[in-house]
Amino acid sequence: MSQPNDEASAPERARQPEAQEGKEEEAQPAADQREPEGPPEPQAPPEPEGPPEPEAPAEPQAPAGPQAPPVTVYGDGTPVVLLPAFPLDSRMWLPQVEALAGYQVVVPDLRGFGAAREQALEVTHMDLVADDLASLLDVRRLERVVLCGLSMGGYVALAFARRHPERLGGLVLCDTRAGVDTEDARAARLAMAERVLAEGLGFLPEAMLPRLLGETTRQRRPELVQQVTETILDQDPSGIAAAQRGMAERADSTGVLERISVPTLVITGMEDELIPPEDSLQMASAIRHARLIQVPDAGHLVNLEQPDRVNDALLDFLAPIWI
Ligand code: MLT
Repeated sequence: MSQPNDEASAPERARQPEAQEGKEEEAQPAADQREPEGPPEPQAPPEPEGPPEPEAPAEPQAPAGPQAPPVTVYGDGTPVVLLPAFPLDSRMWLPQVEALAGYQVVVPDLRGFGAAREQALEVTHMDLVADDLASLLDVRRLERVVLCGLSMGGYVALAFARRHPERLGGLVLCDTRAGVDTEDARAARLAMAERVLAEGLGFLPEAMLPRLLGETTRQRRPELVQQVTETILDQDPSGIAAAQRGMAERADSTGVLERISVPTLVITGMEDELIPPEDSLQMASAIRHARLIQVPDAGHLVNLEQPDRVNDALLDFLAPIWI
């Protein structure tokens, strides 16, 4: 592990990443490696002016097949992959990165968010994001991992459990659900997608914060409210729109719950208004080896609102798992 860096922010100070992939700047050749300058090339005669060339068809935004996402990796040991919620990015897991010393913590940015903002398609299908993760495991030569997802990260984790069950060594589902949206919820997602594309992200924190953070956090932790606001405003409208469309179309993962055979931890904030605690209770009871942790004084973003309780639960759950 590299040495602490005085300029890093608090969680980063405690634990520096081992590797950051997919985030490199394009390398420029050093001055002494550049091609030597030769005599000037003869100039081609000017083309006669004719009718304008037809424009080439627009390039697709990103390849439609699976693509390993940009990722930050910390430490060594049993690999634990942390999947972010909507509309945030990998930074939301910093309080857990610090606590999970002794594990190989792999934190990707999902298509359209954070360092993967360029990878958004028209629709970010959850199944494709799950396949992106499988590609990431291939690239990193990880046969199996513990997968931990919060909300949209949980939709992806459940899609992964449906599509790549042999690569799961454990599962943590935080404030998420296996079922699909109601018609009203779907319509609201599509409306939000249109609105962010038309207006930008300005309205989003106010629209979402009351449901992302519990009442207790909103009253007592203005700095966390501010941090989440800034992370939301830092995203890209097209990534947000694509994720909303993808979540609206996501496949039903209810059927996979009874087939999950790995140790599973379900965590819910007791003040979660987006995915009520009863839904987590029901989901946990449908999974054979699931343990349920209900966290008081926390809403939807339980890992940020009550990091110590979530970290204790994670460490306790992970202790007997060796990969
Ligand atoms: C999330 O936290 O990932 C989202 O709120 C999930 C959703 O919109 O269903």
